Amino acid sequence: MLVPSTHMNREELQAKVESLRWFHTIDLGQGVVTKGIDNSSERLARLQLPMDLSGKSVLDIGAWDGFYSFAAERRFASRVVASDYYAWHGVGWGVEDGKAGFELARSVLRSRVEDIDIDVMDLAVERVGTFDVVLFLGVLYHLRDPLTALERVASVTKDLLILETVVDMVGISRPAAAFYPGRDLNDDPTNWWGPNHAAVEGMLRDSGFKRVEFITPIRSAPYRAARAVLHRFKGKNALAPAFRQDRGVFHAYKSGQ
Ligand SMILES: C[S@@+](CC[C@H](N)C(=O)[O-])C[C@H]1O[C@@H](n2cnc3c(N)ncnc32)[C@H](O)[C@@H]1O
Repeated sequence: MLVPSTHMNREELQAKVESLRWFHTIDLGQGVVTKGIDNSSERLARLQLPMDLSGKSVLDIGAWDGFYSFAAERRFASRVVASDYYAWHGVGWGVEDGKAGFELARSVLRSRVEDIDIDVMDLAVERVGTFDVVLFLGVLYHLRDPLTALERVASVTKDLLILETVVDMVGISRPAAAFYPGRDLNDDPTNWWGPNHAAVEGMLRDSGFKRVEFITPIRSAPYRAARAVLHRFKGKNALAPAFRQDRGVFHAYKSGQ
């Protein structure tokens, strides 16, 4: 059980937390919760991350503030490594000190999560070793070359990869992907590709995973239509593209068929 550190009193911790910009919503104890734009607990529930990771090593690629790394540690993983590059260097999304949140949360939670600063494209056994479980959450669609990235990810995965990503072209049964030039998706120029479920499965198999499970369902057309209208209402993506967009969770295994 992680015990909140007491080296700052509540007011000091609250002030420090408010001085930073957060992506994850992390409960730091003493009633202090970071104001992340990500509904992290809700996304964690969708991942179906095993409740008991005892004896497992875990790599969290693109960990940012580390919510999912800390979650793996709370679920008794023997070793957790958080890796990131883009957000931690403050090169994007207007965040100046992109690693400060991770470091503060790690210290306050008295976490033993390790960190490594590495681009996905540089992942290799010689650089990071291999891990029983790899988390690759919310990163795939930010990469110009997702297939090569998945090969790098597969090279450091011993068995289970948990992949969470934007999916697009949903409802089309052939493997397909949408390309996002400029700010086409969510007004964010760092978004490149939205593959559909069949394309994700194909890429995972091509990268060396033998078994792929769709953890989140392919949603029905009426559900997607309602969601697209809601998106439009919130001023997000245009109606027609949003009809085919969603987020998906996949479990891919090196073992099995
Ligand atoms: C949308 S955030 C997701 C953060 C976290 N994994 C989650 O699911 O909440 C995308 C993350 O991918 C990271 N990222 C993007 N491109 C990367 C790259 N080439 N190498 C490593 N990390 C990258 C960003 O720095 C950021 O932390």
